[in-house]
Amino acid sequence: MFNKRKKINALLQSDEANYEATVMGWVRTFRNNQFIALNDGSTNNNLQVVAELGLLDDATLRRITTGACIKANGHIVPSLGKGQKVELKATSIEILGDSDAEKFPLQPKKHSLEFLRENAHIRFRTNTFGAIFRVRHSLAFAIHKFFNERGFVYVHTPIITGSDAEGAGEMFRVTTLPLDGSAEKNEDGSINYKEDFFGKSTNLTVSGQLEGELAAMAFSDIYTFGPTFRAENSNTTRHLAEFWMIEPEVAFNDLEDNMNLAEDFIKYIIRYAMEHNADDLAFLSLRLEEEEKAKPQAERSEMGLLEKLNFVVNNEFERLTYTEAIRILKDSNHNKKKKFQYLIEDWGADLQSEHERYLVEKHFKKPVILTDYPKDIKSFYMRMNEDGKTVAAMDILAPGIGEIVGGSQREERLDKLLARMKEMHVPAEELDFYLDTRRFGSCPHAGFGLGFERLVLFVTGMTNIRDVIPFPRYPKSAAF
Ligand code: 4AD
Ligand code: MG
Repeated sequence: MFNKRKKINALLQSDEANYEATVMGWVRTFRNNQFIALNDGSTNNNLQVVAELGLLDDATLRRITTGACIKANGHIVPSLGKGQKVELKATSIEILGDSDAEKFPLQPKKHSLEFLRENAHIRFRTNTFGAIFRVRHSLAFAIHKFFNERGFVYVHTPIITGSDAEGAGEMFRVTTLPLDGSAEKNEDGSINYKEDFFGKSTNLTVSGQLEGELAAMAFSDIYTFGPTFRAENSNTTRHLAEFWMIEPEVAFNDLEDNMNLAEDFIKYIIRYAMEHNADDLAFLSLRLEEEEKAKPQAERSEMGLLEKLNFVVNNEFERLTYTEAIRILKDSNHNKKKKFQYLIEDWGADLQSEHERYLVEKHFKKPVILTDYPKDIKSFYMRMNEDGKTVAAMDILAPGIGEIVGGSQREERLDKLLARMKEMHVPAEELDFYLDTRRFGSCPHAGFGLGFERLVLFVTGMTNIRDVIPFPRYPKSAAF
């Protein structure tokens, strides 16, 4: 067996010393021809491997370069150096993979996030991205743990689908038809999708919700967690063309139950990361502090990262209706002094991210749940309120991010749902399977979608969504 190594995380966490160990990892730095800072990704902290003078010949010493992969055997001994309890006094070092120091993109210095984005295949090996992706892992794990502990069934909804779950038309087409104009046409000149791979027009899913609802009508409590795709041409620090979404759907929940679930859920997974990724979050907190120093005082956030996370898990989210929010925004000095790009004038306006961020960052200074939006700015499946003007929608807005969750109580009444679909030009024949849930044993139910990358942004304190998914997809970019 080749792999009899100890993980660096386990070595550093224990006070134990005076035993033999083998470690493997990638060289971060090599000082004085003696001290190797070795990282194997199990922690942000490096293990100091000491190659005493005379242990290695010159040829081997020259191969210990930043980025090289090595195997080291030796004794774990108490460390005299600062910041670590133990170090490895090497008795042998083997080079597993050379790395040409001239060509390796990462130098032992600080690189810009832009540079690292262009080198996303290598950025896993930096402290910042190591921390981000370990936190991302923990959050994903905690999501499954949260739902599993509550008896939810994890449902895999399809990635290729024929329906537009949001009715927003922002879909990537999936086809095997030729693009050179030779695809067979119907009499009216439109493409004949009967000839296509699935015998109909298909796309990548924008949300697993509709299929999730079908499953909730049997298991009561389900969730999905998978990739979703949106062909919206949004070149922002909050949008991706491919992102991951978590969508719980619960039979017998109303809007308030839905809000309680979402709030408990977010707090639970943040707490999990705080407990299990303390080192990574401490590192990211320092990183953010450094970044903020470059900003003018007025633009700096009031809280550090750890302070913010603690605040969020220990305080209740503010809950208010869209109508109340519009009143606050309309009366705000910001609006009166015309500081919004889109001024708030009338009830019914869609909220832009500047409005959401004003509410969360300036007015309430905590996460906010907005409910009961005008029906015209929300999706067809949301439950109509008594007033006939608003729907039982909820969006959760987070400081520094804006919308992080979108959800609603669903319209369980067949006649009302059909009427809304007609008004909004959602083709009922394509969604007949969905309407069946309302025909056969319909019940009140509710659910929401949490944008996973937006959550990771929030927890890591990063500012660009392209930095919290390993290989981001956005307009004009699908590298790697
Ligand atoms: O608000 P959205 O569009 O809601 C739905 O898709 C519903 N079907 C969810 C449900 O009720 N089951 O999207 C949900 C969340 C948003 O709040 C946001 O966090 C995230 O998904 N999101 C995006 N994240 C990154 N890039 C994009 N382009 C996103 N679009 C939405
Ligand atoms: Mg939304």
